[in-house]
This record gives sequence, structure tokens and C-alpha cells, in this order.
Amino acid sequence: MKHQQLTPFPAGFLWGASTSAYQVEGAWNEGGKGPSVIDKARFSDSITDFTVTSDHYHRFQQDVALFAELGLKTYRFSIAWSRLFPQGSGELNAEGAAFYQRLIDELRKHDIEPLVTLYHFDLPWALQEKGGWSDPATIDAFEHFAKTAFELYGDRVNYWLTINEQNMMILKGEILGTLPPGSADPQKMLYQQNHHMMLAQAKAMIACHQMLPQAKIGPAPNISSIYPSSPRPEDVLAANNFSSIRNWLYLDLACYGRYNAVAWSYMAEKGYLPTITDAEMAILRAGKPDFIAFNYYASATVGAGLPADSGEDAPRQLVDQQLAGMDESVYVGTENRYLKKNQFNWYIDPVGFRITAREIYDRYHLPLIVTENGLGAFDELEAGNKIYDDYRIAYLKEHIQQLQLAISDGVDLFGYCPWSAIDLVSTHQGIRKRYGFIYVNRDEHDLKDLARFKKKSFAWYQRVIRSNGQNLDSAVEY
Ligand code: BG6
Repeated sequence: MKHQQLTPFPAGFLWGASTSAYQVEGAWNEGGKGPSVIDKARFSDSITDFTVTSDHYHRFQQDVALFAELGLKTYRFSIAWSRLFPQGSGELNAEGAAFYQRLIDELRKHDIEPLVTLYHFDLPWALQEKGGWSDPATIDAFEHFAKTAFELYGDRVNYWLTINEQNMMILKGEILGTLPPGSADPQKMLYQQNHHMMLAQAKAMIACHQMLPQAKIGPAPNISSIYPSSPRPEDVLAANNFSSIRNWLYLDLACYGRYNAVAWSYMAEKGYLPTITDAEMAILRAGKPDFIAFNYYASATVGAGLPADSGEDAPRQLVDQQLAGMDESVYVGTENRYLKKNQFNWYIDPVGFRITAREIYDRYHLPLIVTENGLGAFDELEAGNKIYDDYRIAYLKEHIQQLQLAISDGVDLFGYCPWSAIDLVSTHQGIRKRYGFIYVNRDEHDLKDLARFKKKSFAWYQRVIRSNGQNLDSAVEY
């Protein structure tokens, strides 16, 4: 659809930026914090660990001042569960609780609305040792953790996110470090874990509405449109299968409290069905989100994996959290020759952003906020501590343009938080895969001075925010 006139970004639109605790804070064992699954995960020796990351724990005041200078209306961050509860449950760690008090106060001081993720991949290790999400006790631990956060910070936090990218934890847990490698019977176990996380999320949403009537809460999955590799009906069906398994399973449960039929039949066929009870389904129906937050990096393309018969079959692709992967009889991830790629082989698909926003809104009719979108790249620090990240500006500009088109299509969108506010450590590709508006002066194994430098994209996004998304011109003084 071509619009003669575009609808402007609404007044009060939440221009923001995002981070997560384990990727930005560092101080992994300070202030009484307990270890998380990430602290125990094994990643490649060629990349850094998560012990120091961007040292935000010690430098948050400086960072928030920079966020204020950038003009952020909101800042999305996560609470490290094991900072509040080193054992995952039990006694509250007052020092950990105080850290987030200070951070929230600092944000409020600068008129930045905190957007708080309760859980972003970093399950406390003590819970993992007892079975993690396979153990129903983890549901109670999460509910208690969420209620504690509502009690501690609810007077100053209006927007809450439950679980970051639950769908990626289920589909790509070994890559993200959230699932111990080589877990026995992982698929069946994972869909049981998924059910438990859904219950935990529903309980947190119920508690939030009871305890904080003025606050709003929603899930934060990674949602992307799935394209068929060709117009062949079997490929379209494969795309439909994958969309149910990757996207709608999670949002149908969160928004409607029911299992998506195609995803359910997939789990039945494969022997992955979780054990569920009527009482649990009643909880899922009772826990309703006020909005949907979604992370979007790129679309995915899949086919049926049939032998080529028309020359239209695209080559199969490698697996990564952002690439489809395959389940031979259901869908096979393929390359998409119409899209460019970034330095890490992730597709760049701004139009897919608009399609994804429309698909979600059409399906659920809830307000949307984008909680991640961005470009990982090998930025270079140049003379005068300058970083000319024009490629990031180009990526963000094209995506914001598509967001405005989605708004013009009728999508109710109230915020945009690119990944990431400041450089941080990628899930499995180190610190040199940078996303931030602010450069952090360190390398994989050399911490240097961890100084902060504004990138060119900082100056650009600052102007975007000031103009409420009207001025996206790439040329900017820097
Ligand atoms: C999302 C996560 O999967 O993508 C973030 O919520 C992550 O934690 C981001 O950092 C980018 O992925 P990566 O692997 O490049 O860090």
C-alpha cells in the first residue's frame, strides 16, 4: 500500500534504547550477586566473557547522563534476577535491590521512563542446578521475584516486560547459553519448560495488575515475518508452519491463553507435547498483557525442502539464533536473494519490519512497542575518538521509515527502542559485534579504560528524537 500522506509518530512516542543486565553491567560477582546460567556457560575462548562487559554497574550515572544527552524518552534495561535473589529465591539481597533503586532514580532525575525487563536470559544458577525451568518450583520463584520487583520499584516504573525472547530460549537455547549443551531429550524438555515459563509470565502479569493498577506489562518475544522460499504451495505451507512454531505459539499463549493449533499438532507429531492441566490453562487465560513488545532484526525465509523443480529453490542456510534453521519434515531455512546481509550474515530487511508489525497488530490488536532492532558491526575507533558508523545510521533510518509506514497502515505503536543504548557484549559473538550509540573503549581481552565515546549515530538519533521522527536525514554534523 502506498500512502499519499504519512501519519506522523504520535505525540509522546517513546523513543528509547535497550540493554540487558548480563550484557552491560559486569560486576558479575559483586554486591552479593549470585551466578546465573550465563556465568556458567561455555563460549568460545576467542571472545570475551561476561564478567566486566561495559562496566555499567560502576558507571551507570555517567551512562544515564549520556542517555539524557541523547534525548531518550525511555530506557529499556533488565534486572539481574540473581542480583536480587542470589539463590533465585529465598532472601532478598539488599545491595542488589539498592542498585536498581539508584538506577531508576537516576533515570527519573533525567525524565527518562524506565522500561524494565524482569528476565533477560540470566536464570540464577542455583535454580538451574535444581532443574531450571523444568522444575515447576521455578515458576513460583519467578512469581516471587516479579512481585518483589513490583513492590520495590512499582512506584516509579510504569512499563514492565516479563521475559525476553522466550521463543529464542526455546528454539536456540544452546547458542544463547541459556541451555546447557547436550541436555538429554532437549526438545520435549524444552516444550515443558516453555509451558512453565508461560505460567510464570501469566502469574507475573496477574500480580502486576493486582499490585500496580496504573502500570502496564507485556511479553517481549523476537517476532519476524516468515517468507516462503517460492510461491509453491508446499513452501507457503512450510512458512506457515514455521511462523506458528516460531512466533504464534508464544503470542497466542500470552494474549489468548491457548495453544496455537498448528504448533500443538507439531509438538504432538514429534512427541514433544508438554504436560498441562486445566487449572494451568485457566491461569494462562487470566494473565493478559496490556501491550506486546517485540524484538525484530530480520525476516526469515523457509521452504518445504523439496527437490528443486523450478529453479526457484534457494540454497539452505546455516543456523544462528536469527536464522531459521530446519526441522526437515516441517520447514527448511533457505537463503533470500532479495535481501542484503550484515557482517555477521544476518539479513537486513526493513520492509519485513513493517510486515511483522502489521501481522502482530492484525492478530492481537494490542498496542506495540519495539524493544530491540539494530545493527551489529565491527566499528572502528578513529582519530579524535570518533566512530563513523554511517552503516548503522542507514540501517536505523530505513527501519524507522518502515515503522512510520506501519503506523500509517493503522498499527498502534507507542515506542521504539533500538539495540543497544551503549556497546555491550553480544550473546555469543563478543564485544566487537557492537550495536550501541555509545562506544565502549575495550576489546575482547583487553579492557583498556572502558571510556565512553559518542558515535556518529548518537548525533543522528539525537536529532531523530528531537524531531519526533520527522528528520531522518543521514547527513549530520559530527
Ligand atoms: C536478541 C537478544 O536476541 O538479540 C539480545 O535479546 C541480543 O540479548 C540481541 O544481544 C542481538 O544478538 P547478538 O547475538 O548479536 O548479541
